[in-house]
Amino acid sequence: MLSQQAPFEPRSLRQALGVFVTGVTVITTRDTTGKVYGLTANSFSTVSLEPPLILWSQSKRAGSYSVFKSTDEFAISILAEHQSDISTRFASAIDDKFAGVAIDDAFCGLPVIEGSSAWLHCRSVSQFDGGDHTVYIGEVLKFARGDRLPLVFGGGRYLVARPAEEAAPSQG
Ligand SMILES: Cc1cc2nc3c(=O)[nH]c(=O)nc-3n(C[C@H](O)[C@H](O)[C@H](O)COP(=O)(O)O)c2cc1C
Repeated sequence: MLSQQAPFEPRSLRQALGVFVTGVTVITTRDTTGKVYGLTANSFSTVSLEPPLILWSQSKRAGSYSVFKSTDEFAISILAEHQSDISTRFASAIDDKFAGVAIDDAFCGLPVIEGSSAWLHCRSVSQFDGGDHTVYIGEVLKFARGDRLPLVFGGGRYLVARPAEEAAPSQG
């Protein structure tokens, strides 16, 4: 077992936390001029069903930080297993992340990624300081579900979701 006590070496801490496997989302919004923004986020989590609340957190160093901090709505595309290239694109610093990406504006007026596993339209209801991130709580106003398996992220890599009974038994 590898153990460390605070203060931590950031890379080791990231590796340990990265053992926790997640789905992958692209979170999108518009600024007051109508310009669209989006970033890849795996900090997404369900909070409550009644009322329907979700959360995600954004690095204060993200280019789109000031836009998400002041927006009152955002959309979440829960990426499907064939969309790791979309995840990589929205995690990059390129200028027009939306260029060439199949986008649906009809779902909620904000751009969402076509072909994803599920989509949420959220009202940004509160935000909390979370160290080098800000945590956002969103109230789900609308959702839709597709029939594709979700993209999975764990250990710093993209993974594929399969039922446990289909997996080969691990050695040892
Ligand atoms: C799988 C994955 C998950 C990520 N999750 C988050 C996240 O939850 N919050 C965050 O702020 N950045 C996250 N990032 C990093 C952002 O996507 C990345 O910094 C992006 O360039 C930010 O976009 P922006 O600079 O246009 O705002 C993640 C990246 C990857 C590849």
